[in-house]
Parts: sequence; structure tokens; C-alpha cells
Amino acid sequence: MDGKSSSPWLFTLPSFLLCLSLCTTTRLCLGSDTISANQSLFGNQTLVSSGGNFELGFFSPGNSSYSYIGIWYKKVSVPTFVWVANRGNPVTDRSSAELKISGGNLVMVNESRVPVWYTNLTTSSSGSSSAVAVLGDDGNFVLKEGPNSSVTLWQSFDHPTNTWLPGAKIGIDKRRNTSQLLTSWKNAEDPSIGLFSLQLEPSSEYFIWWNRSEHYWTSGVWDNQTKIFSLVPEMRLNYIYDFKYVDNENESYFTYSVRDANTISMFVMDLSGQIKQESWLVSSGAWNLFWSQPRQQCEVYRLCGPFGVCSESTDNFCSCLPGFSTSSPRDWNLSDWSGGCKRNSDLNCPANASNEQIDRFSLRSNVKLPEDPQSVVAGSDNECQAACLNNCSCTAYAFKDNNCSIWFGDLFNAQQLTQGDTSGSSFYLRLAASDVEDPSKKSNVTAIVAGSVSAVVAMLAVVLFGIWRWRRRATVTTKTVEGSLIAFAYRDLQVATKNFSEKLGGGGFGSVFKGTLPDSSHIAVKKLESISQGEKQFRTEVSTIGTIQHVNLVRLRGFCSEGDNRLLVYDFMPNGSLDYHLLYRKDSKTLDWKTRYQIALGTARGLAYLHEKCRDCIIHCDIKPENILLDAEFCPKVADFGLAKLVGRDFSRVLTTMRGTRGYLAPEWISGVAITAKADVYSYGMMLFEFVSGRRNSEPSDNGAIRFFPTWAASKIAEGGDLLDLLDPNLETNADADELTKICRVACWCVQDDETRRPSMGQVVQILEGVLDVNLPPIPRALQLFVDNTEHVVFFTESSSSNQSSQTKSNASTASSQNQNSSSSTKSRS
Ligand SMILES: *[C@@H]1O[C@H](CO)[C@@H](O)[C@H](O)[C@H]1NC(C)=O
Ligand SMILES: *[C@@H]1O[C@H](CO)[C@@H](O)[C@H](O)[C@H]1NC(C)=O
Ligand SMILES: *[C@@H]1O[C@H](CO)[C@@H](O)[C@H](O)[C@H]1NC(C)=O
Ligand SMILES: *[C@@H]1O[C@H](CO)[C@@H](O)[C@H](O)[C@H]1NC(C)=O
Ligand SMILES: *[C@@H]1O[C@H](CO)[C@@H](O)[C@H](O)[C@H]1NC(C)=O
Ligand SMILES: *[C@@H]1O[C@H](CO)[C@@H](O)[C@H](O)[C@H]1NC(C)=O
Ligand SMILES: *[C@@H]1O[C@H](CO)[C@@H](O)[C@H](O)[C@H]1NC(C)=O
Ligand SMILES: *[C@@H]1O[C@H](CO)[C@@H](O)[C@H](O)[C@H]1NC(C)=O
Ligand SMILES: *[C@@H]1O[C@H](CO)[C@@H](O)[C@H](O)[C@H]1NC(C)=O
Ligand SMILES: *[C@@H]1O[C@H](CO)[C@@H](O)[C@H](O)[C@H]1NC(C)=O
Ligand SMILES: *[C@@H]1O[C@H](CO)[C@@H](O)[C@H](O)[C@H]1NC(C)=O
Ligand SMILES: *[C@@H]1O[C@H](CO)[C@@H](O)[C@H](O)[C@H]1NC(C)=O
Repeated sequence: MDGKSSSPWLFTLPSFLLCLSLCTTTRLCLGSDTISANQSLFGNQTLVSSGGNFELGFFSPGNSSYSYIGIWYKKVSVPTFVWVANRGNPVTDRSSAELKISGGNLVMVNESRVPVWYTNLTTSSSGSSSAVAVLGDDGNFVLKEGPNSSVTLWQSFDHPTNTWLPGAKIGIDKRRNTSQLLTSWKNAEDPSIGLFSLQLEPSSEYFIWWNRSEHYWTSGVWDNQTKIFSLVPEMRLNYIYDFKYVDNENESYFTYSVRDANTISMFVMDLSGQIKQESWLVSSGAWNLFWSQPRQQCEVYRLCGPFGVCSESTDNFCSCLPGFSTSSPRDWNLSDWSGGCKRNSDLNCPANASNEQIDRFSLRSNVKLPEDPQSVVAGSDNECQAACLNNCSCTAYAFKDNNCSIWFGDLFNAQQLTQGDTSGSSFYLRLAASDVEDPSKKSNVTAIVAGSVSAVVAMLAVVLFGIWRWRRRATVTTKTVEGSLIAFAYRDLQVATKNFSEKLGGGGFGSVFKGTLPDSSHIAVKKLESISQGEKQFRTEVSTIGTIQHVNLVRLRGFCSEGDNRLLVYDFMPNGSLDYHLLYRKDSKTLDWKTRYQIALGTARGLAYLHEKCRDCIIHCDIKPENILLDAEFCPKVADFGLAKLVGRDFSRVLTTMRGTRGYLAPEWISGVAITAKADVYSYGMMLFEFVSGRRNSEPSDNGAIRFFPTWAASKIAEGGDLLDLLDPNLETNADADELTKICRVACWCVQDDETRRPSMGQVVQILEGVLDVNLPPIPRALQLFVDNTEHVVFFTESSSSNQSSQTKSNASTASSQNQNSSSSTKSRS
């Protein structure tokens, strides 16, 4: 079920066992976890697992008048059904339907005694009259030969519905050639088989399938060495689960367990078409999203159905194309959008009446085009349009770069892009004349039909002019000035860098080389890797980056884009990157406290500019000491900004390119929720801890144990302890006490689990400048729960239960009460 719409008691549960008649051979005992042969379960009776974790019985989801046999969490206050027996065969009267063991099989019969669900075992042992079915505390419902038998005849874990519980496997039985599927519900009130399913493929990778015919997400293959799925790099960041992948001659499967037995956690193939991993937060009484894929809702195949359009920037994602309305508003309301949209008026084709009734075309701009266009030979927009008009099943066309595409039948997978996204195209949607929006503008629309020739000429001119300009640039070998940026020729950069011989470093996006221009100024040249963008888009993004200029940002001087080569040319920074001075050289003279404070402040200013002052907010995505460069005066300059955008909008790819920098990544990078500027704030906070300690946050301490510095520091800070204890020993306690307090508190606020509690970079600047006071921060839960193990670093998405959301307060008394609130609400775990 959708974690977001977890309004309490969305589902009605059988609340009490009304069958008060006692345990007999045919009646169940109150609270029993076992159903024996000749007993039956009906009405409001339930089984409860021995430790009280799970309950089994009839339930009716939401407003549904149907009943199902299912298993749900007993300790979770939001009804969450982890397994359903009769998914597609509901009963209407739960008091006369029943679940029983008959002939060694579990059988559920409906009101007319007709089996609607059964285990269908034919093995010799299944005739046993002593068979029992036990609901385990792990949520597994197991049919056994007898109460004390260890032979499992059947278990619900082998027949999952939409939920994958810890301990269960989703894999392939090689002997039977069968595989398990995790399949979404049809809608929020109907557990029957929905469109989306997760399945392990023989190639040892998981696919998410749409209607078991098209897959739109893959985990990538299991990597034996790194023990992660190759396209799920965030698995490295996990610290609350243990994973296991087993591949032998009989079966292959993936399974997991939760390290802390008190954590209630599950995977669910959600109605949204995303696989989600959620944990139950006792303190806030809600499911908390830990991880989900695909990261973008609109990547889900055909999510919005025919003529639907998906948009990441609206809350409900799906809407209808103009001239269409929702086919089934009720289904959309229940989170099933697959029915899509229907025309408000039928097309008038073939047209046989007056010109007035000829179908019109309505322009839709900045979209990712619908799937399956057909190519048609057409020399102009007009010809392309005519090609569509002449075929009654043609529903849309697009004419771009002299290519004509037309679509037949239902349109799927159109996506409305957000305003800043320049990768979109336009297409014309065919509509009945009466559905074209504003009747007063009819003449304008007709003008599109009739006047498109001139429009095309104009467009062509623009396109040709563009091509001409592009050609002209591409053939130029000497430097050309483009805006404030220089377009370098590759050959010139080869010369400047002596054929890329002096490597300065290698980051996530590519290696950096030192170079010298003919005017003897020094440059740093970054050779970008894995750039998927075309020439045009690259130039657009680069010129955007070129306009971003601030004293605390490394200046982009130019770029090179020739063939497959994409290079960026920056000012050279003589003092290199901060990590060298801070973490390796450990030179207390050059990096004394005053300098560190100035670097912290300058970095904050640079980031605040990126987040708040540029036209489009730029999220850096990779803040760490390696990306803070120092000029001759040790003035900090943030490097590598805007590159995440160059690599692409797919943030999981960004994550892949940022290998090794996990210590700075905010929890939202794992959970799959949208990344905002607050992710940078988190990384900045992590870096501030290193400014203070002068070492990596997770370095082995003197006695060899791995200690995570921020955990220790945060408790010290929150307790109001002596902060000099935290200070880099190289500084020999030479630090301004006030500034040290400020930096420590800011660091701790920046790494709060809940991003709304983190300050903005602008606020950080104000605090460090002394304009704004900063109160005592609470200890972030993630840090408290941190398991001391570098392989399972630091992250936890639980937000503190305290409702206070402001990060900075000038009032010291609210500060301490906030701190108490927060500490008292956090369970201590070992
Ligand atoms: C169940 O009923 C059958 C026949 O009615 C009987 O033979 C069997 O002993 C009963 N089993 C139990 C466990 O009571
Ligand atoms: C089951 O419980 C509901 C509500 O608690 C009640 O209305 C209904 O009569 C009960 N059904 C049976 C068969 O006891
Ligand atoms: C159930 O129905 C009631 C009234 O019929 C309505 O107010 C409520 O929103 C419905 N709940 C759901 C989850 O559809
Ligand atoms: C029981 O199930 C059978 C088979 O699905 C169906 O024909 C019958 O109508 C059902 N009885 C009731 C009362 O729904
Ligand atoms: C039950 O098992 C038999 C034999 O294995 C098979 O033919 C039949 O299709 C199965 N029925 C169901 C509902 O799975
Ligand atoms: C099952 O084991 C329990 C003790 O573990 C014993 O008391 C009981 O008699 C056994 N039942 C059967 C049917 O063997
Ligand atoms: C396993 O089943 C699939 C279809 O479910 C089939 O394509 C494949 O050939 C089968 N493999 C073997 C070894 O029987
Ligand atoms: C899913 O596939 C089945 C055939 O396997 C088809 O009948 C059905 O219409 C498909 N569902 C949708 C929503 O396209
Ligand atoms: C993975 O590693 C195990 C041992 O660690 C080995 O037995 C197995 O063959 C490996 N599988 C693959 C596909 O490399
Ligand atoms: C595979 O199954 C066979 C037969 O059940 C069994 O003997 C063998 O040990 C199994 N192999 C593994 C690796 O579990
Ligand atoms: C959709 O659900 C809301 C409550 O969540 C309800 O008020 C509304 O009536 C429902 N609409 C339809 C069409 O079911
Ligand atoms: C053609 O026009 C006639 C009369 O105006 C109308 O009855 C008929 O439905 C039209 N045909 C189509 C295909 O629209």
C-alpha cells in the first residue's frame, strides 16, 4: 500500500473474536496460532502468532464489501496485509465462508461451500488427518503433517502476494522451473492480481514487469564480489539489513533479514509500480520509506494508462491529455491509473461534413513523447499533419528535425517535463473540433491547420540556422568565445595539458589534468566520462554553468565538445583540494582554526549561492573535502557543481558515479524520495565534523575499533559537553570557543534525519557570520542507531518524532526543551 496515503484505518479490520464458544475439536481457541484438521475459521475469528506479531483471518480492505482471508501485522496500527489467500475470489459473507484443513489441504470455501482457494497438494503425506496449519511469528503460515512435525507441506512464504517479509525468498525453483512473483494489488481495495510484478530472472537480476510482458526496471545482475546488485549501488549504504544471494543447482534466490529483531520492515510491490522497502516507526505510528525503485514515479511503464500523462511535479502524477477525461475516477482514486483517459468527443473521421468538423490538432510542448511512434516520410510539418489526418486511427504526430512521427491508437507513456528540463519535445494531439479548447480561439486553431506551412518555414529556418551555427562552430579549430565561455578545440587542450600527462585527480565524473595556456595561465581540464547528452544539450547545460559565478565557486573558463569528447576547463587552484590539507598533510600552521572557519563560511556562501541565488536551484550532490578547492590565499572554491545535471537527471546514475563518497550522502539518496538542496546541507554538515576533528568521520580510532565521529560528537554537542575534546589534536586547543560551538551545532543541525529540520545554506551562512544564533541541536536518530561498522555506514531515514521543525532559534530556553523532547523520544537500542 502506498506509504504516503497511510491515513489511519483506511481498512476495516475484524476487531474481536465473537466466537466465544470455547476450544473444541471444531472450534478454534481464542488467540491460538494453529488451525487443526477438522477445525474451521470463519466470521471474525483469527489466528494470532505466538509472539503476537501477526494475525490471520477474514478482512475487507477499505470500503470493499468483499472479504478475504489474509495475514496482517498485529502490532502495526495502519492495517497492512502481508498475504492474501483468495486474491481474486472474494466472499461476501464471512460468517458462512470458512477456512479449514480438509484431506491434508488448506481449503477456503465460500457461502455455497464451493472452494474458492486451496493448497492443491497431491503428495502422499497430504491425506494425513493430523495435519495442522500454524501462523508463525515471522508471518509465515505453514501447513505441516502434525503439530510436532518438522515436515512443511506448504507455506505462504512460497506463495507471496505483494509483500516480501524478512526470511522469505523471491527466487527460482530450478527443479520445478517455477519462479515466485511479487505482484501488486489491483487497487487499494482489491487484492487481486495487479499489473506490476517483481521477479528474479535466470540471469540473476530482478525485473519489475508490467502485465508480465514488459519490464521497466532491473536491479542489474548480482555481483559476487561486491555483494550488491549492479544497478542498486545504494545497497552499499544499507546498515539495517543482511542480504543473501543463493545460487545452486536446485534454486536461486535472494533473501534478507533485519539485524535488529525489533525493527518491523518489509518490501512491497506497490500500487505505484515501485518496489518499496518500508520500516514501521513506532514513535510516529507510520510506515517510513527506506528505499524504492524506480526512483522516478514516471519511469513506471504505462502508469497513467491510455492518453494519460505523467508528471513528476504534481502530487498525483497522472492526469489526462487535453480533450480527454478519466475513464474511471473511482479507480484513479484507489491508486489504479491503468484505465487511463477517454475522449470527450469522438473523432470525426473520415470527415465528410464542412471544414468546421475536421479534426484539429492541439499542441503539447515540453513532453517526453508517447511510446511507439511510426516514422513517415514527409518533407514538412504540413505533410506530416496530412499523413496523420488521412488515417483514421492516427491520433498524434510530431515533426522535428525533418523527421515526421505519427502515432496510431492509444497513446501511452507521455510525460510532461518540468519547466527547467530542456530535453522535451512537442507533439500534436488529434482531437474532435469540439474538444479544442477555447471556442473563441477556433480561428487560431484553424490557422494552425491552414497556416502551418508558414509556421513550418519559420521553424525550418530556425532549425537550419541552428544547424548552420552549429556546423560553423564544429569546424572551427581555434578558440571561439561563446558568451563568457571559451569553446576550446580538443587539439589545443591536448597541447595545453601535454597530452593529458599531469593528472591532478580523478573524481566521479572524470579525471582532471593540469594545463597551461599560451598566455601562460594555468588551467584544470576535466575529461568527463559517461556523458549521455548530445552536443546541443551539453552546450546548453555548460553555458548555464558558465553563468554561475561567485567568489566561492570555481570558475568555468570554457569547454570542449568534439565528437565523443566532453571536457570542461576551469581556473587552476594552486593549493589543491581541502582533503589534502585537512586530512593528510595535517598542517596546523596553514590550516589553523581561523582558516578552517573561513573555509567553512566561504563554502557555505558558495553553496547558498548555488541553492538560492542562481536562476535554477543547483543541487551539488557531491559535497566533500575533495570538491572544495583552495586558491593561493586559501579562499575556498566549490568545484564540480552542475555536473550531476550534465550526467543526467537520473539521480541513481549520479549515485553510481559517486562511489566511495557515501559518508557524506543524505539518507534520502537511499530512500528514493526526491533529492532537494537539503541533501547538500547534510553533506556539508558531515564535512564540518571533519573540519573540527581534522580526520575522516569514520577512521579507525587508536585502539583499532572503527568509531563514527559524528555519533560521538553529536552526543557531546547535545549534552553541552566540552567541545575542545572534539577538536583536532594538531590544533592544540587553539580555537575560538564561540566559533567552535557554532560550527559544532551547525554540523549537528545539518545532519538531522528529517530534511525539514536541517537549516538552509543561507541560514548556515547567517549563523557562521554571527547574524543568527543557533540553539542546541537534538541528536539525529541515524547517528544514534549507527552500527559501528564501516561496511554498513551511517544512514537511517527515521525522522525524530518531535514536531518542532525550525532549525534555528534565538531563544535558548526553547533550545534546551527541544533537545529534551528529542532525547526522550528516542529509544535506546544496543
Ligand atoms: C477429523 O475427522 C475425521 C472424520 O470425520 C476423523 O477420522 C479424524 O480423526 C478427525 N481428526 C481429528 C484431528 O480430530
Ligand atoms: C464481526 O465484527 C463486526 C464488527 O466488530 C460485527 O459487526 C459482526 O457482526 C461480526 N461478525 C460476526 C460473524 O460475529
Ligand atoms: C468509504 O466510503 C465513504 C462513504 O461512502 C467515504 O466517505 C470514504 O472516503 C470512503 N473511503 C475510501 C477509502 O474510499
Ligand atoms: C461460490 O463460488 C462459486 C464458484 O466461484 C460461485 O459460482 C458461487 O456463486 C459462489 N457462491 C456465493 C454465495 O457467492
Ligand atoms: C491442482 O493440481 C493439479 C495437478 O497437479 C493441476 O492439474 C491443477 O491445475 C491444480 N489446480 C490449481 C487450481 O492449481
Ligand atoms: C508434541 O510435543 C509436545 C512436547 O513438545 C508433547 O507434549 C505432545 O504430546 C506432542 N504431540 C504429539 C502429537 O506428538
Ligand atoms: C522454464 O519455463 C519457461 C516458461 O515458464 C520456459 O520458457 C523455459 O524453457 C523452461 N525451462 C526449462 C528448462 O524447462
Ligand atoms: C495484460 O495482458 C493481457 C494478456 O496477457 C491482456 O489481455 C490485458 O488486456 C493486458 N492488460 C492491460 C491493462 O493492457
Ligand atoms: C559466487 O561466489 C561463490 C563463492 O563465493 C561461488 O561459489 C559462485 O560460483 C560464484 N558465482 C558466480 C556466478 O560467480
Ligand atoms: C538439491 O536437491 C537434491 C535433491 O533434493 C539434494 O540432494 C541436494 O542436496 C540439493 N542441493 C543443494 C545445494 O541444496
Ligand atoms: C475519492 O476518495 C475521497 C476520499 O479519499 C472521497 O472523498 C471521494 O469521494 C472519492 N472519489 C471517488 C470518485 O471515489
Ligand atoms: C457523414 O455525414 C453524414 C451526414 O452528415 C453522417 O450521418 C455520417 O455519420 C457522417 N459519417 C461519418 C463517418 O462521420
